[in-house]
Amino acid sequence: MYDVLLRRCALKDTSALLDIALSQGQIVCIEPAIEGSATQEFDVQGKLVTAPFVESHIHLDSAFTAGQPRWNQSGVLFEGIQIWGEYKQTLSLKDVKDRAREVLKQQAAQGVLFVRSHADVSEPKLIALQALLELREEVKDWITLQVVAFPQDGLYGAPQNEALMEESLKLGADVVGGIPHYELTREDGVRSVHRIFELAQQYDRLIDIHCDEIDDEQSRFLEVVSACAIRTGMGSRVTASHTTAFHSYNNAYAFKLMGFLQKSGINFIANPLINITLQGRTDTYPKRRGVTRVKELNAAGLNVSLGHDCVMDPWYSLGTGNMINCAHMAVHVCQMTGRSEIDACFDMVTTNGARTLNLGDSYGIAVGKPANLVVLDATEPFDAIRRQPVATHVFSRGRLLVQTEPAKTQWAAQTSVPVRT
Ligand code: FE2
Repeated sequence: MYDVLLRRCALKDTSALLDIALSQGQIVCIEPAIEGSATQEFDVQGKLVTAPFVESHIHLDSAFTAGQPRWNQSGVLFEGIQIWGEYKQTLSLKDVKDRAREVLKQQAAQGVLFVRSHADVSEPKLIALQALLELREEVKDWITLQVVAFPQDGLYGAPQNEALMEESLKLGADVVGGIPHYELTREDGVRSVHRIFELAQQYDRLIDIHCDEIDDEQSRFLEVVSACAIRTGMGSRVTASHTTAFHSYNNAYAFKLMGFLQKSGINFIANPLINITLQGRTDTYPKRRGVTRVKELNAAGLNVSLGHDCVMDPWYSLGTGNMINCAHMAVHVCQMTGRSEIDACFDMVTTNGARTLNLGDSYGIAVGKPANLVVLDATEPFDAIRRQPVATHVFSRGRLLVQTEPAKTQWAAQTSVPVRT
């Protein structure tokens, strides 16, 4: 007797439909036709069953604040930072937790069960960080939240910021963040990257740096991150987020850098919805896309995942937290339109994200793994990206967490519609 049985599942890498049995929070059997019964049984009728989506880059602390205290009229990153600077004077634990929890619920309903969120730690009371650390504990039975200590105003942008970062790590942040391109000088930016690596080693944490999120082709902190990763051997535990300046580097430099990046083995996160919106704002025409070289990084064997970055905040007033939406945008703006590239974009919001978050063996669909599964109203990843279907069933820790009915279209009886035979 199993807890849950899923009948006739289409898995990404197998052609035959399979049954999946869950018991005591684990996947215990995957076979063509499992004998026996379960407390709950679902015939998924050939739908795609996938490991959960991974949101590898989001700012939960600023979510749902768009328009408060004012809208970002210019649309540029730096006006967004100013507006957030005004809003964050008013933060309370309850405000941050309520907004962040709502995003997590919306994401879980869309099949996201692993989330890495940045928390702004440039604010002296560390309210955003404390709120997300409390929320991490509160939601751990249904969704995994990783918290990055992110110095939005620069590690050296104000005298107290370096100490606030260290305090954040003592409080339990999972990841050391950074923003070298927004430090007051190039030298401060380089120094910040070195300090981030020191702190990550001292406190045994991961690294995720907002790196070169600008169109300036002279913004070259990625090479510093790469060098530190090579020297420390920390590559798989290190992530460079955004790297939008990489889009604008001259090709001779980009070619040389790519070799160093391969040697470093660091992870990359692109945020195509946001990058295509915020970047290129100082251009007239031609207007740059400003998204990092996803296609080339992926072809070079580097691990690339995708993030939503923002949901209704001063940088992006839209956003639903849907990861297929990110993958769909990546296909377009990164020109990942080859058949295998479209499949690769699905990996970027699932398995690659799991690698970025260092989830290890706890992620994936195989016997013995934790029972986290999503049923999509699609037949395969390509179909999922094309049609952006709902997640009909989301199973977390071996239990059904949420169900969504797909929309139904019905032609009116009197309509004469040609039928293709
Ligand atoms: Fe970000």
